[in-house]
Amino acid sequence: MIVLGIETTCDETAAAVVERTPEGGARILSNIVLSQIAEHAAYGGVVPEIAARAHVEALDLIISQAMTEAGKSFADLNGIAASGGPGLIGGVIVGLTTAKAIAMATGKPLISINHLEAHALTARLTDNTQFPYCLFLASGGHTQIVAVRGVGDYVRLGTTQDDAIGEAFDKTAKLLGLGYPGGPQVELEAARGNSTRFVLPRPMQHRKEADFSFSGLKTALRLEAEKIAPLTDRDVSDLCASFQQAVVDVVYDRLRAGLRLFREQYGAPTALVVAGGVAANQAIRTVLQRLASEVGTVLVAPPLDLCTDNAAMIAWAGIEKFSLGARDTLDVAPRARWPLDQLAADRGALLKTAAYK
Ligand code: KG4
Ligand code: ZN
Repeated sequence: MIVLGIETTCDETAAAVVERTPEGGARILSNIVLSQIAEHAAYGGVVPEIAARAHVEALDLIISQAMTEAGKSFADLNGIAASGGPGLIGGVIVGLTTAKAIAMATGKPLISINHLEAHALTARLTDNTQFPYCLFLASGGHTQIVAVRGVGDYVRLGTTQDDAIGEAFDKTAKLLGLGYPGGPQVELEAARGNSTRFVLPRPMQHRKEADFSFSGLKTALRLEAEKIAPLTDRDVSDLCASFQQAVVDVVYDRLRAGLRLFREQYGAPTALVVAGGVAANQAIRTVLQRLASEVGTVLVAPPLDLCTDNAAMIAWAGIEKFSLGARDTLDVAPRARWPLDQLAADRGALLKTAAYK
């Protein structure tokens, strides 16, 4: 089975062709990612309108590059998969509409993929990880611990109550005058800083539930920085190191709680899987590795280019879904919001309504 994947939910325009061999192995035939970082850098974050326009301008070319590199024509495809959300709606519309046009012109099946589900299934593309496994999704927009029990069977065990983990890195970088995106800059600074100089909180530590919170940490960091302003280079490095150590401690503690919940409900996971841009952080990878061995499981951390946003994961999720007989019609709608775990989302909405009443 050969599927073209298209990804346009944020600031990466991406297309990829992935094949599942008859023996069940996966081969990435091409994986093209065009980052828009330069377009957004001046604004210190992603500007939705600029992102949507950049996707329109680049997507055709990126798709034809992916097809050429794979050595395939549309006739060779078994289907087309596009990110249908959640994400910046302008970009999602561009990707999904393009996929619909190709599906219509070629008569090939179409599927709209939940971007988070694609992150969740990447470990099966790279490592053939078997169900059930415990996923830590750590990106600029999401911080979730998810029990992945099967294709389409996801239970959210924990999430953030405020900022996403990558967002916390980005805001820290912005506060300290470092570039965008902030995660890699903060990690670089942290490497030469003193992580014990500033005493910062570890929000939610020791709670039984597996939820996160980063806003208190962000505020504490700002207050420390304001106390000693103007900042020297050393101050910036020490603040980054102290911040990163706090995040590492939080990740360890919250994932420990998440794995405990997992075990109580579903038995031992086959693996602890990490996905999302923050998985690029070496200190976080190291602590996850330690945690995995402590609880007697393995850490699966896909290569960095498959942890951050890409279209190979969309194509792969398409393969998994097409194999189960799923497909969408041409009127499938793009979605700005699309929770992975509909049950948890419904519960949340119900609680909110109840509180409102
Ligand atoms: O998954 P991703 O590429 O895009 C989405 O958010 O979907 O994740 C981007 C996030 C940004 O917040 C970025 O600052 C963070 O991942 N990030 C890092 C590192 N590299 C990227 N955070 C910490 N350390 C890093 N080395
Ligand atoms: Zn993502």
